[in-house]
Parts: sequence; C-alpha cells; structure tokens
Amino acid sequence: MRRGKFITIDGVEGAGKSTQIDFIYNLLKSKGIKLILTREPGGTDLGEKIRELLLGNDIDSMHSDTELLLMFADRNEHIQTKVIPALESGHWVLSDRFTDASYAYQGGGRGLDVKRIAELEKWVLQGFVPDLTFLLDVDIELGMRRIKSRGMKDRIEQETMDFFARVRDSYIQRSQMFPDRIKLIDATKSIENTSQQIKNILLDL
Ligand code: TMP
Repeated sequence: MRRGKFITIDGVEGAGKSTQIDFIYNLLKSKGIKLILTREPGGTDLGEKIRELLLGNDIDSMHSDTELLLMFADRNEHIQTKVIPALESGHWVLSDRFTDASYAYQGGGRGLDVKRIAELEKWVLQGFVPDLTFLLDVDIELGMRRIKSRGMKDRIEQETMDFFARVRDSYIQRSQMFPDRIKLIDATKSIENTSQQIKNILLDL
C-alpha cells in the first residue's frame, strides 16, 4: 500500500530541473516530510550502470527500441527495489524524470509507436503512476543555451533541435492528456518565479 506520495519532475534539457528539485526537497523537508530523492535513468546501483550505457558517448549507435527497453529495464529496477518500498514505508519520493520522459524522448524524439510504449508501461508499471508530475517547460532555444555552458554533452543531449522540438511537443501533449497529474510550469522566467508556481501546487497537495 502506498503511504507516501510519489512526485516526478520532467522537461526538456535546460529547463532547470536540478534547481527546482533542490527547492522542492527543501520545502517538503521543512514541512517535516520524510523524502528521498532519486532519478531516471539511474537511482539504483544497476540503474546507474544502465545510465552510463544510455548516456555515455562511447557507443556510436543504439537501436531506438533498445534504448526504450533499457529505459524500462532501469525503471523496473528502480520502482521494484527503491520507489515502491520507500512509499510503502511512508516516505515521499521525488524522482528526477520518470515514464513521461520515455513517451517524450523515445516516442516524440525517436518517433517510436506510442502504443508499444504504452504496452511496456502496462507490463512494467501495472498501473503505477506518480501522484503529481511537474513538467518544466522552456522553448528549445533557451534550453539549449542553458545547457551549452555545462560543457560536454551526453549522447542524447547531442541530438538535433528538431528532435528536442518533438520531445517538447510530446511533453505538452501529455500534460493536456493528464491535466490532473501533470502540471505544466512555465520555466522561462526567473528561478524564483518557477519555484513559486511549484510551491502553490505543492501546498495544495
Ligand atoms: P537528465 O536526467 O540528466 O536530464 O538526463 C537523462 C536523459 O535521459 C535525458 O536526455 C532524457 C533521457 N531519458 C529518455 O530519453 N527516456 C527516459 O525514459 C528517461 C527517464 C530519460
């Protein structure tokens, strides 16, 4: 039985997730909530190895279906060994990315059939969905400018602007499909402005 809340945060590259994750973490902690931070791909020992395979630049090419399967292999390990046990023990869990990213990147970006992603979601997650998802939205140009300053790009960050435009469109479409769960946050303004939008929603929760 799920006793804690499961919150996820997603968005295109350069949307400012890390800063807002720190903000959410500190806000919830200040309310006395027991919270663990995690991420996808990654979050478990095995998951971090899968993350290296997925994002490392040492692999020249990867079939899109393989990429999708690795994302879901990572996700299975993550929810079974970390997320669900934590929720059952009464902790809240905040995950930097979750299944919406597979729909956006592998569905939108790579152009994989959404029905096949939905089949995998059903198989792996069996109806397990976040209580709340923050979708940080910025236009692609701004996102790319923000990540440029970070230095070396990972395998996915090296994709084209068209790829990221499709990723962004897919995220927005998902937020329209699931408006109760996915909260679209305009992350183009100041850090404080974005945090305030998030805070208003969290206080409701
Ligand atoms: P980040 O979490 O540091 O932003 O990097 C994770 C990268 O992995 C990012 O480019 C999005 C990508 N990703 C997918 O393509 N599909 C997924 O299902 C997940 C969780 C992440």
